[in-house]
Amino acid sequence: MTGRIYLSPPDVGPLEESYVLRAIRSGWVAPLGPEVEAFEREVAERVGATHALALNSGTSALHLALLVLGAGPGSVVVAPTMTFAATANAAVYTGAEPVFVDCDPATGNMDVSALAEMLDMLTRAGEKVAAVLVADMFGACADYDELLPVCEAAGVPVVEDAAQALGATYRGRPAATFGRLNALSFNGNKIITTSGGGMLLSDDEALLARCRHLATQAREPVPHYEHVDVGYNYRLSNLLAALGRAQLHRLDGMMRRRRLLRERYAKLFSGVPGVRLLGDGDEGSNCWLTSIVVDPERTGWSAAELGAHLAARDIETRHVWKPMHRQPVFAGCRAVVTGASDRLFAQGLTLPSGSALDDDRLARVVGAVEQFLDAR
Ligand SMILES: Cc1ncc(COP(=O)(O)O)c(C=O)c1O
Repeated sequence: MTGRIYLSPPDVGPLEESYVLRAIRSGWVAPLGPEVEAFEREVAERVGATHALALNSGTSALHLALLVLGAGPGSVVVAPTMTFAATANAAVYTGAEPVFVDCDPATGNMDVSALAEMLDMLTRAGEKVAAVLVADMFGACADYDELLPVCEAAGVPVVEDAAQALGATYRGRPAATFGRLNALSFNGNKIITTSGGGMLLSDDEALLARCRHLATQAREPVPHYEHVDVGYNYRLSNLLAALGRAQLHRLDGMMRRRRLLRERYAKLFSGVPGVRLLGDGDEGSNCWLTSIVVDPERTGWSAAELGAHLAARDIETRHVWKPMHRQPVFAGCRAVVTGASDRLFAQGLTLPSGSALDDDRLARVVGAVEQFLDAR
């Protein structure tokens, strides 16, 4: 069997086709419409939030969240260093200064002690901290029981970047309910996709209404075009919301498939000393991406070597995210660093994790890994 195997491609089929076709035939092709309202309602219900705002990306969700919390020139936003750049970029868009905090080596999520150290340093210096952005990485929630009291004590609101974590839970509570505002992404590689899209969830009606206003070009409710604020064109289209509704129906099945892949990889590497699964044992994870961490001193081979072996067989893998404090664009930003994210970047490898990965393709990945291991 041939053909490229991707890391986390969209998983769409006849249900999505029927939903999008129905939306087109309804005549609601222009932005907004009943599919958007239904999608907001259904995601809010699924997550257990009171209010939802569908947007054109997770990045715009984060940007708006920070804006309405007062982030701007002269303020600081605390962000994880182990994340995708969009998390930190959102802070920069507002004019605030991003500062970074290292991660827990076991999970890749924010290190609570490093966060406490950063907040302590900032508050002692009398700096205005607009928000702490917490990302739920690889589909697993951060350690909120430890994290939230630290932010509360510092009097700083939390924005949960749950872009990767729809469907995940932490001690029974769903992802995207831990912050004042909570962002989801429906980008093409996420657990459900609208091809591109995002959402903000919150129990704070006034804050979310303010986000809705800014996301809709800040049009004042008068018959002509009237603008008091600078707005954004950030809403999700009706057609894409229809796609999202179909995907949401399939979320549980897609999570089951991703978990099955993770369990298969766990078995594959269980007898290999020096290899561990990132975030292993988290029953609440949605298993969005499965990454292994390879200690080359124990294995005698590196994550990069396995990645190259799989690439030669047309199987996509990826480095774990390069930490933000190592990115040229954020050079000079302040950071509390323990070395954990640097090690994950050096030693991590993300394996094909998509729910569309069928048994034949999974067997191809497993066979290729076994071939690699046998040759060592
Ligand atoms: C942690 C994290 N935050 C934010 C984003 C941005 O979401 P989007 O691509 O929908 O703008 C992503 C993914 O793309 C992400 O992984």
